[in-house]
Amino acid sequence: MNFSSIASLKPEQVLNASNEDLPLDNLEIYWQESASHDPSEILGFLEPSQWREAREWGDIDDDLDEDLSRTALRIKQSPELLRLFWHCYWRIYLAPEPAPPSDWPTLTRILGDDGGIFYLLVSLAAIPLIRKWHKDLGIPEEITRHTAGQVFWRVHVHESIHGRPGVEKGQLGWIRHYTRERYFRIGRLEYWLAPYKWSERAFRHRETREVVTFAAEGTRFDSDGRIFSDPENYEEDGGWKSTYLRTREHVEGYLLDPDGYGSTKQVRLPLENWECILEEDVMTLQLHIPFGGGMTPEACRESIHMAKSFFKKHFPGEPAVAITCGSWIFSPQLQKCLPESSNLVAFQRELFLVPSAANGADGLWFVYLRRGQPDFETWPRRTSVQRAILEYLEKGHIWGAGRMFFLLDDADRFGKQVYRSTWPPTVP
Ligand SMILES: CC(C)(COP(=O)(O)OP(=O)(O)OC[C@H]1O[C@@H](n2cnc3c(N)ncnc32)[C@H](O)[C@@H]1OP(=O)(O)O)[C@@H](O)C(=O)NCCC(=O)NCCS
Repeated sequence: MNFSSIASLKPEQVLNASNEDLPLDNLEIYWQESASHDPSEILGFLEPSQWREAREWGDIDDDLDEDLSRTALRIKQSPELLRLFWHCYWRIYLAPEPAPPSDWPTLTRILGDDGGIFYLLVSLAAIPLIRKWHKDLGIPEEITRHTAGQVFWRVHVHESIHGRPGVEKGQLGWIRHYTRERYFRIGRLEYWLAPYKWSERAFRHRETREVVTFAAEGTRFDSDGRIFSDPENYEEDGGWKSTYLRTREHVEGYLLDPDGYGSTKQVRLPLENWECILEEDVMTLQLHIPFGGGMTPEACRESIHMAKSFFKKHFPGEPAVAITCGSWIFSPQLQKCLPESSNLVAFQRELFLVPSAANGADGLWFVYLRRGQPDFETWPRRTSVQRAILEYLEKGHIWGAGRMFFLLDDADRFGKQVYRSTWPPTVP
């Protein structure tokens, strides 16, 4: 095959070959740049020995070998498919800035049921990059294997939506992070060493170890202490706007309730007794929750302990102070619709839940694999979680996700509901 002629294929030629009527805008981002990448790495990956090894690391069993083999061969034989594969690989994993895909062809007209397998091969092609990245960082192979195993769940999601194997295009952009960030699966959960990017601040009493958190300056709460992205969702009167002030001597403002709501409690704390432990740019472990259920309190506790020692050992120069996350999983509304015995409710009660702006559908894709606002007629009610959330929303509630933090210094007290058990705080 003549690679310079493939490199010079234009995005519209590739799209025409797919026979799908799509806008070009997104596909053509970095098109010229990807053309300058030497394709030998990609061609090597399309050889059975390489994709098979990646498939094993991706925790996918050999049932899919026939599909993968057929699709890899088709890609190698078609200039347009090869150019697209080459572009996807460069664009997702090697581009200088993240440029997640949208409006990319499904390839079902050209590859039939193997359209999703094309994107599964793109996902698997990240695994040699992840292995190299982890090796350079000195990460044990067991952690790399566990992290690479996320591909299995991406195939599971595609199968749940389309009834056949593959990977959703919308899930590809995220895979880039595994290839270049300090981002690992440790036990049940994934952690990404990165600075805190939110603006509320937590303080700890230097002697009693009590923790309080201040809402960010100017946050508008409704009378229940919730936040909304659409101003229309606020009642006309009621609610409050938080203030926050920190001087050299003291800090004052509105506190947050660790159950995930704003509170009207205002305090003024002397900094000689209280130290700021979580604020913007402090190093944290951003939590991500892979598919798979079974998030028991024991599995969460074990994972948190393992993560604490893992990061201390491998990144001693950048000590993380807290585990943080924003997700539907930390929506305080889950405590209103799931039973006490639910794993998610038990986990939430161990954390400091922080309110985040509700938009009516945040994160529900992960529960229903559907986009947009909840549809009570068509969204599935197969599992207890799916039923509980829809039944709750049918009563007229507006859905919102939530955020959380858990201070690593409190890891030994996981199981004791450290933040809820000291609310409201003893401070005046
Ligand atoms: C978050 C998660 C791990 C919670 O697991 P869990 O509460 O320990 O789940 P369990 O194994 O106890 O299952 C409880 C019920 O929830 C259901 N369930 C689990 N994961 C589900 C999901 N992703 N979507 C819908 N229902 C789910 C189970 O089928 C079970 O239903 P049943 O009672 O009818 O049998 C799970 O919801 C999941 O895998 N989510 C996808 C990943 C995700 O949302 N990540 C966050 C992205 S922001």
